[in-house]
Amino acid sequence: MRDFDLILFGVTGYTGRLVAEALLEYPEPGLRWAIAGRNEEKLGQVRSALSARFPEAEGLAIVVADSLNAQEMGDLVQRTRVVCTTVGPYTKYGDALVAACVEHGTDYCDLTGEVSWMRKNIDAHHEAAKAGQSRIVHAAGFDSIPFDIGVIALQKAAVERWGAPATSVRTATGKMKGGFSGGTVASMGLMFDAIRSDRSVLRLMANPYALVPGGSGPDRNDSRAVSHWSTHDVWTAPFIMAGCNTRVVRRTHALLGYPWGEDFSYAEAMGTGRGLGGWMKAQSIRLGLGALISIMAIPFLRRMAVGTILPNPGEGPSEAERHAGMYKAHVVGERSGETIRLDVIGEGDPGYLSTSRMLAQTAVALACDALPEVYGVLTPGSVVGEQLMERLPRVGVRFALRDVN
Ligand SMILES: NC(=O)c1ccc[n+]([C@@H]2O[C@H](COP(=O)([O-])OP(=O)(O)OC[C@H]3O[C@@H](n4cnc5c(N)ncnc54)[C@H](OP(=O)(O)O)[C@@H]3O)[C@@H](O)[C@H]2O)c1
Repeated sequence: MRDFDLILFGVTGYTGRLVAEALLEYPEPGLRWAIAGRNEEKLGQVRSALSARFPEAEGLAIVVADSLNAQEMGDLVQRTRVVCTTVGPYTKYGDALVAACVEHGTDYCDLTGEVSWMRKNIDAHHEAAKAGQSRIVHAAGFDSIPFDIGVIALQKAAVERWGAPATSVRTATGKMKGGFSGGTVASMGLMFDAIRSDRSVLRLMANPYALVPGGSGPDRNDSRAVSHWSTHDVWTAPFIMAGCNTRVVRRTHALLGYPWGEDFSYAEAMGTGRGLGGWMKAQSIRLGLGALISIMAIPFLRRMAVGTILPNPGEGPSEAERHAGMYKAHVVGERSGETIRLDVIGEGDPGYLSTSRMLAQTAVALACDALPEVYGVLTPGSVVGEQLMERLPRVGVRFALRDVN
């Protein structure tokens, strides 16, 4: 028997610490878990700080391992049934841990939104992970759980109402309030560096089926224009996370065996409201996004921005800001002229408070729930979709069916 059900790796970082808090705030009875990182002294400090708020944290075991050391990753994954990691950027720090989990049949979940790294893992490990019965679950944070599980919840409702799924689903974000952490900025920066040094990365990211090797379908790359969506009756701007979320939703569909049909189509955008105000907001968001991309893509500008207008690694929104955050996503499905609508409503900063709870629940579902016999390099929806529909409302993420026309 392994020492632990779950090891949380990266707990000394901004998001890792929040995931530990989420596990303590919503405890899973009987869960045997430990905290891990590369620096024993820092880990001790984090455990003391956690214990001040949650006395039971005093008993958490500490595991020391460096993600760049393959031997240490092998030793770590053999001590646990599941690893949950916030050690990112994953492109830089994640390879050895994923390989070790696949080799030793350990389940795994993370917060990556790095599409090219996910694809690399699919190519390198999907078949071996299937053979060795390990579940490698990427994108278990704000990218892409609300969207991935939102589509599954909507399709479930569509089948209940119509006896058949929606053939086309679109998600427009609604009200949203949240911030950035230094780790996220570092991950975005690395992605732009990868694009600059290797144009095939850009081609991959422009492929709507980037996470479905050999896959094709009706979808084209995400729109970069301001457009009016009649399904939602709102103006929309490009959504920075669509490039990850839409690929994850399409991989979920493929891994589930195409239950929504080979012609299933999915799109995402940022909803900005109705009328002239909505149009103007969409235009300003499109321009702001262009500016952000320029800052991130040009190393000199990025260096100037980090530490001034963008956070350093280890930094992120304050506790008050995390609790003041919220988000909504409006998912609309269509079939033969009929529509079905579902809102995803999240409390807390989407990228950090809500993300840490979603990742914690994914890890706990992997460790404790009865799951379908699905293995490989997976998405949340393809393996813990049903479980998350149950679990997430308890941690402030609700899926609310609105109406059917
Ligand atoms: N998908 C989402 O919705 C979402 C949301 C939030 C964050 N994220 C992602 O999560 C990741 C973490 O973000 P963050 O803001 O928490 O970053 P952070 O504060 O910089 O934390 C990074 C963590 O990685 C650890 N680390 C770095 N190198 C290591 C190594 N060689 N071995 C072991 N540990 C190592 C750091 O340990 P030390 O303390 O020892 O330096 C720290 O614990 C990023 O990739 C970010 O993009 C995704």
